[in-house]
Amino acid sequence: MSGDMLDRYDLDNIAIGTLGSHSALNILKGAKEEGFRTVCICKEKDAIMYRKFGVADEMVLVQDFSELISEPVQERLRRLNAILIPHGSFTAFLSTEQLIHDLHVPVFGNRELLRWEADRKAQEEWLRKAGLRLPATFKTPEEIDRLTIAKLPGAKGGRGYFLAESPEVFHNKFSDMVRRGLLKEEDGDRIHLQEYVIGANIYPSYFSSIMKNDVELLAADRRYESSVDAIGRIPASEQLEFQVNPTYTVVGNFPVVIRESLLPELMRMGDSVHEMAKRLAPPGIIGPFCLETVITDDLRIYTFEISARIVAGTNVGIGTSPYAYLKYGENMYMGRRIALEIKEALRQGRLREALA
Ligand SMILES: Nc1ncnc2c1ncn2[C@@H]1O[C@H](COP(=O)(O)OP(=O)(O)OP(=O)(O)O)[C@@H](O)[C@H]1O
Ligand SMILES: [Mg+2]
Repeated sequence: MSGDMLDRYDLDNIAIGTLGSHSALNILKGAKEEGFRTVCICKEKDAIMYRKFGVADEMVLVQDFSELISEPVQERLRRLNAILIPHGSFTAFLSTEQLIHDLHVPVFGNRELLRWEADRKAQEEWLRKAGLRLPATFKTPEEIDRLTIAKLPGAKGGRGYFLAESPEVFHNKFSDMVRRGLLKEEDGDRIHLQEYVIGANIYPSYFSSIMKNDVELLAADRRYESSVDAIGRIPASEQLEFQVNPTYTVVGNFPVVIRESLLPELMRMGDSVHEMAKRLAPPGIIGPFCLETVITDDLRIYTFEISARIVAGTNVGIGTSPYAYLKYGENMYMGRRIALEIKEALRQGRLREALA
């Protein structure tokens, strides 16, 4: 559907745009390096950052990101011949239905996959069918028989998640979270219970290229999460005394170079996730995606989530990452890779295929 919106576009004068947050510096810088004009839809208070880094040729100021679907903003974007690059803030501030039906500006990527991504059950089905190893899930708290992470749907950055190793501990901790105002009583029915895998968190980021018919591993990161990454700095006796509960608010990311012997499997995983996406929502993944994995001490890779879009973890690669370097040489990163794909699609007269 995005493709039809191109009819009124001047293809010699395409701009690349995105919401001013998440991975906008990455996306806009990459677009400029590939020679595109850039548009940042931005809140007044954040405009300083995009101005000072000089990555936005045009600024569309909004009070709230949900204004993206207002007619004046959409019309302005169409006048600028803008193609939008979606990132985490698109799905955080707009519903899947709004993004699929109410946004009449071309969007890079496959919007149909948003439905698969938005729903944890659908996501799991996709990853399982692709042959990936997933943590076990439990339907009710009574089934909990090992260390389990309790997740709320739509929680931002793992806020309100907690661990429990038995039904009793689950119920106690749940009541405690409600008392502390971190959860509401009615959240109980919506909690997703997943086996907690002890291991190293690795987030490999891939780029699925429609133009090259290839899935490229471009970067990897791990997150810096508050408070879980702070707990080891407190002596165990004090952790017990204060009953520290880990939370997972992301405050940053670290680049990771993965043990080389793990790369073949990670590459096969990327390929098969895309192959399965082709069947579930043709033509499959267009552009960036990221798997959220935990790797255990016996080197088993568990995948607990997928993002079918650019993730903020790829910001660690602005400039370059080892994997982007191996493939492209210097100065390649996810934001730039997206722009390169759009440029190639324009050159081959195939832009519509990148805007499913
Ligand atoms: N099954 C698991 N085993 C071990 N750790 C996990 C598991 N699931 C989640 N985590 C940890 O909890 C954090 C938050 O979980 P998750 O990514 O599912 O949250 P989220 O709501 O999807 O947040 P975001 O949208 O920011 O990714 C992860 O980064 C990871 O550190
Ligand atoms: Mg996640």
